[in-house]
Amino acid sequence: MAVAARSSAARTAATGLVRPFAASPISARLSSCRGGPFASSPAGIRWKSGPYGYTQAKALYFSRPAEPIDALHLHTHSISPGLPAGAVLVRTLAAPINPSDVNVIQGTYGSKPEYSTLLGTPEPAVVPGNEGCFEVVSVGPSVSGLARGDWVIPATTGFGTFRTHALVENADKALFKIDHTGLTPLQVATVSVNPCSAFRMLRDHVDLVALSMKRFASPGPAPKGGAWFVQNGANSGVGRAAIQLGRLWGLRSINVVRERATPEETAALKQDLTDLGATVVVTDKEFLDRKAGSELLQSLTDGGADPLLLGLNCVGGKSAANMVRWLSPGGTMVTYGGMSRESFPFPTGPQIFKRLKFEGFWLSEWSKENPRAKQQTVNEILDLIRQGKFKDVPFEEIPWSWETEEKVLKEAVQGTLEGFRNGKGVFVFGET
Ligand SMILES: NC(=O)c1ccc[n+]([C@@H]2O[C@H](COP(=O)([O-])OP(=O)(O)OC[C@H]3O[C@@H](n4cnc5c(N)ncnc54)[C@H](OP(=O)(O)O)[C@@H]3O)[C@@H](O)[C@H]2O)c1
Repeated sequence: MAVAARSSAARTAATGLVRPFAASPISARLSSCRGGPFASSPAGIRWKSGPYGYTQAKALYFSRPAEPIDALHLHTHSISPGLPAGAVLVRTLAAPINPSDVNVIQGTYGSKPEYSTLLGTPEPAVVPGNEGCFEVVSVGPSVSGLARGDWVIPATTGFGTFRTHALVENADKALFKIDHTGLTPLQVATVSVNPCSAFRMLRDHVDLVALSMKRFASPGPAPKGGAWFVQNGANSGVGRAAIQLGRLWGLRSINVVRERATPEETAALKQDLTDLGATVVVTDKEFLDRKAGSELLQSLTDGGADPLLLGLNCVGGKSAANMVRWLSPGGTMVTYGGMSRESFPFPTGPQIFKRLKFEGFWLSEWSKENPRAKQQTVNEILDLIRQGKFKDVPFEEIPWSWETEEKVLKEAVQGTLEGFRNGKGVFVFGET
């Protein structure tokens, strides 16, 4: 069975037939190294990327959902120099490992990927990874908006970024060209999922900016600041982005983080988020303490006169249930993640008597429905980064060069959901 799949992929490469890969715009004039033109290459010799020769490439893939450490394999293949008319060949500069990438590999994500044999893997496969920064290496004859050396990011999620190279069909639509002046590959690679999600959730569910302006314009004593929002997982990539955007837009934020192993570490984390622009940072214990929490809420909201109308929830469980208690009448809770893997009830009383709304946010769908707004949001955030107004999340760089072993890459993906991490894991590609 496995042999049949390999030779079918080799035939695909030999005929130059180009088909979409895994419902993404990536396709291939690809062949597995084991069955392809480099099968008999002397060890250590490989052909470099470029328009005149085959490009040797590597990709992490899985053929059935499981924990990343068990599911992932590293596959070597080659890409033909003859590009289809509308395609470009890109090489990856950086690709973060987000919690949703792990969920895709585990088979627990909202959308199911399509498995394909186009990479010449032993069985139909999916390359995981939703976002990354790529450099254009060569360009098909009918591509109009991209040139060699441009930096690009995928226009939508589900691209398959855990790979050294990709041949991207319909490239003018599938990729956004990035003006990378003053930007690093890590900044570009991490802009399109977390900062975009924070941006949209703060703007599209409750218009806190308009609310702040209205309150400042209304008669009576001026409020002590802009409108409030509360969020858990506040030190996550999304949380850090929400803090910074909130500060830039004049909003006030209540930020819930998990207590660290020592008081000093907890204090350092609180200070870190305060420096980013958080108005208040509380630990989950402080947040869940009914008496102290309720006193704090009363003082922050001036006894409810300065209402708390938006909650961003990526944790679930007790934390989400408590957020329901904290929200003011008429408030909205937006759930976009479930890091605790615990659900929470939609309580009847608060829905009726506080008229709370419970909404969900999913960037993948939003991006498909709003491609132009997605590009504008990305560009706006990149501008803020250039101006020094929006800081990077802490990164843990995982170098990926031609020699990097499969085990190292798999372990990096597996560690993503472990919690209490020092930084977001990002594959940074060297000589590939
Ligand atoms: N719906 C969407 O469109 C969308 C878009 C982007 C992100 N997301 C979701 O947003 C969430 C955050 O993503 P990210 O990339 O920003 O995360 P990240 O930077 O990798 O950070 C992970 C966060 O989760 C917390 N966490 C980990 N395990 C936890 C647990 N068992 N209980 C409570 N908190 C825990 C971490 O807190 P500690 O530091 O205390 O471990 C940290 O704050 C994820 O659930 C992701 O899937 C959703």
